[in-house]
Amino acid sequence: MFDRGAAHYDLLVGLNPGYHAELRRAAVALAERTTSADGGPRVIDLACGSGASTRALLDALPGATVRGLDASAGMLAQARAKEWPDGVRFEEATAGDLDVDRLGRGRWDGVLTAYLYRNVAAADRARALAEVFALLAPGSWLVVQEYSVRGRREARWRWNAVCWLGIIPLGVLLDRNLGLYTYLWRSVLDFDSVQEFGDRLAAAGFVDIARHDADGWQRGILHTFVARKPGEGLVREDGRAARGGR
Ligand SMILES: C[S@@+](CC[C@H](N)C(=O)[O-])C[C@H]1O[C@@H](n2cnc3c(N)ncnc32)[C@H](O)[C@@H]1O
Repeated sequence: MFDRGAAHYDLLVGLNPGYHAELRRAAVALAERTTSADGGPRVIDLACGSGASTRALLDALPGATVRGLDASAGMLAQARAKEWPDGVRFEEATAGDLDVDRLGRGRWDGVLTAYLYRNVAAADRARALAEVFALLAPGSWLVVQEYSVRGRREARWRWNAVCWLGIIPLGVLLDRNLGLYTYLWRSVLDFDSVQEFGDRLAAAGFVDIARHDADGWQRGILHTFVARKPGEGLVREDGRAARGGR
């Protein structure tokens, strides 16, 4: 479905007020917590799609080495068609089935993932989080941006209204892709509550878990989690702990 929707993906997310601003907010949350021992930081954009989140990441962390990973060849083709500095590479890979040793166990200074985990079957989510945990260097951070409305009646109603009055009709009109946009609607209704997802992060071994909720129409619907892999963080020249290390 993402392959089919790839050509119009940027157009449709561009119509979503707040989409890029929230991606920037997530990328800045990661940048503020990221440093590296030598050279620029090495970060992964997991489920990079057409590169919107990759761009936000690079704007927040200029000079970073970025690996964009996504399961959809069509979305990756859209991403690769854009201009990127050296150090940005895209690769086809599926969360829940990542080759952690090949990508580099414990070698990444940060991971951003925007709009991924509700696309991973509930039974595979723990494994997908364990992969990210394994990829991160000790003391480094994961930032997750995702929709979640479970257990919150007002947010659920607003999500239903936005989908049936806006997202689904626009998706059909501009993309002729009813399947993708009804799937988007349903996948959000079915996804973990914010409490359940926070618990999953903790069960995967993450600490210092915190959450920020979006504003505007996405209030109560879109959430950004930060979570740290325990371990020694780096210490910056000014003596402050980077990566929240202890
Ligand atoms: C809504 S898009 C978000 C793309 C990008 N992060 C952004 O913010 O614009 C979701 C992306 O997740 C990808 N995806 C879905 N399941 C995946 C999986 N198990 N592993 C990797 N990518 C996946 C899809 O191919 C799609 O590109």
